[in-house]
This record gives sequence, structure tokens and C-alpha cells, in this order.
Amino acid sequence: MTKIGVLTGGGDCPGLNPVIRAAVRKSLNEGYEIIGIKNGWKGLIENDIISLKLESVSGILPKGGTILGTSRTNPYKKEGDLQKLKDNYKKLGLDALIATGGEDTLGVATKLIKDGITNIVGVPKTIDNDLSTTDYTSGFDTALNTAMECIDKLHTTAESHHRIIVVEVMGRHAGWIATEAGIAGGADVILIPEIPIDIEETCELLKKRHARGKLFSIVVVAEGAKFKEGTMITQEEKLDEFGHVRLGGIGETLGQEIEKRMGYETRVSVLGHIQRGGSPTAFDRILGTRFGVRAVELVKAKKFGRMVALAGNKIIDVPIEEAVSVLKTVDMDLYEIAKVFFG
Ligand code: F6P
Repeated sequence: MTKIGVLTGGGDCPGLNPVIRAAVRKSLNEGYEIIGIKNGWKGLIENDIISLKLESVSGILPKGGTILGTSRTNPYKKEGDLQKLKDNYKKLGLDALIATGGEDTLGVATKLIKDGITNIVGVPKTIDNDLSTTDYTSGFDTALNTAMECIDKLHTTAESHHRIIVVEVMGRHAGWIATEAGIAGGADVILIPEIPIDIEETCELLKKRHARGKLFSIVVVAEGAKFKEGTMITQEEKLDEFGHVRLGGIGETLGQEIEKRMGYETRVSVLGHIQRGGSPTAFDRILGTRFGVRAVELVKAKKFGRMVALAGNKIIDVPIEEAVSVLKTVDMDLYEIAKVFFG
């Protein structure tokens, strides 16, 4: 009997449970056995697994997070981990592995394929939406809607108090959440990692608003944005196993700079992990469901080394390697549309 393992790695997001549920339901329909690997690649290193039955996935569709747990474990980091992972993969007798993750988790999948664990199928997820070859990643839509709702709430208080509110959203290398939540929430300026911040230009835009009688403004900034001649602002220098720093703080610095330069009362709101929580939107539930089902179909067709992806409204499959080789940064045509509403 075909035996499939499924794991979720990297930062969690709403939409992972729909993927797991769909992969389990489709596998069982096919007469396959499916097991869950706990906490991403860590579970394969430690042989931490659970069996997945129909009851295991009952009621999880609307739940955020992942019933399998996740971690930012990189099996290529610590001496001996890769061998343990390979041994466990063999011991478990897996015919295929469904790896659900972003650039890091799927980057590991790419390496493992080259290192002999070839039967991997990828599922893209990340609230950052920065994986190439897919129009959307699982979790992005929910994070986007959460950020938009927060911007809506901040709007009313900014207006009542005649303040500028800087909203810092997630987005490490790409400003998808900032751009789309900014457009949806009617932001007056949107600052993203792709375009270095020109503080003078930002203040000019805000002055323009004030000059036409709008005494409040919303500035959305992605955590990975940096000033023209600056570096990214981090919370600590420590790197995670994939070499990432913990971002956060650009909002505060930006807010202080705006207040200093303009003399307008400015407040800062950092949305942080709120964007990664909560119940997935209908879009993410449907996308996760389609991704999960298609991932098992790829296993059935023995199309390994492939990742499920969304192209327009169609689910396609692409090489995992292609998805992680370049980051999908914000479409500048979309940013130009956002700019129409600046100032
Ligand atoms: O995985 C994406 C992400 O949400 C980034 O936007 C953010 O920089 C990072 O994860 C935060 O990671 P952690 O939860 O480990 O602090």
C-alpha cells in the first residue's frame, strides 16, 4: 500500500489545516496510508510522527495554525541531522512526502531531492506570498484580510485624533501584504522592501494630504522595508537556522522620523503575529483544499519534485526548485496602482 508522509514547516499560517485535511481525505479515498510528520523537518529527524485517519482531520478546516505543528528546523544545519532524517525516511517506509512550506522548507526539499530523497511533492504556503511560480500561497489571503481589517480600525481612531498612524505589517523580503492591504485599506503611503524608503518624499506626500484638509493619514510599512541609505531594522542579531534575522522596528523608527520632521502627532501599530493567526478565509480554505487534493494526485501520478501552484484560477504543477530559486517580489504595476492614492 502506498504510504505518504505530510509535514508543515516554517512560519505557520491559516490555510495549513485545509491542506492537511484535503491530503488525508484524498489519500484515504485512494486507499493510501498517510502519516503526519510533526513540526516540519524536525519530525523527520526525530521520528516524531502521528498516524492520520479520517477522525484526525475532522473539524480542522476552519482552524488556523497546523495540527502537525511546525518549526524552523534546517536538517542541513547540524552535523548528523541529515543522516537521521534519511534513516527515518527509510525506516518509515515512505513512498512519498508532501512538504508544505515557504522558501526555507521547500529549499530543503530541493536539496533533499538532490540528496536522494526524490519522492517529494511541494505545497506553497507563506503569508508573505513571495514564492515564485504561484500566483498565491496558502495563508496570504487570510493575512491580507486581517491586515486590512486592522487598517480599517486604525483609520477611525487616526481620523478622530487627527493623527498619523504608521502600521507595520509582516513581509520579510516582499511587500505583498503591505501593498495589497494598503490598497484594500486605503493607505495614504505604502512602503515596501522592494523600494528603499525616501523619507523626504514620504513626508511630502503626507504634507500634501494635510494641505488639502486631511489631518490624519495611514502609512503602511512592511517590516523588511529600509531607508534609502540604511539597513533593515531588526529586533535581534541572532540568526535562525536558515540565516534569517528577526525583523521588526521599522514602524517605530519611521513614526519617530515623521513626527520629528513634520510635527504631526504620530502613533505606531505593529500587527506582528496577529497576521499569522485566526481562521482561514474562504479563499484560503478552498486554495488549501485544492492544493492538498492535487498534491496527492501528483503522488499518484509519480510526478515528484513538483509543487502545486495557482495560475490564474487553475491549479498547475511546477518544479519545486523553480519556486524557490527567485523570490516573487511585488508586481510594480500593482504598486503603481497603489501610488495613485498616495498623498
Ligand atoms: O514566515 C513569514 C513570516 O511571517 C515573516 O513575514 C516574518 O518575518 C517571519 O515569518 C516571522 O517569523 P517568526 O514567527 O519566527 O518570528
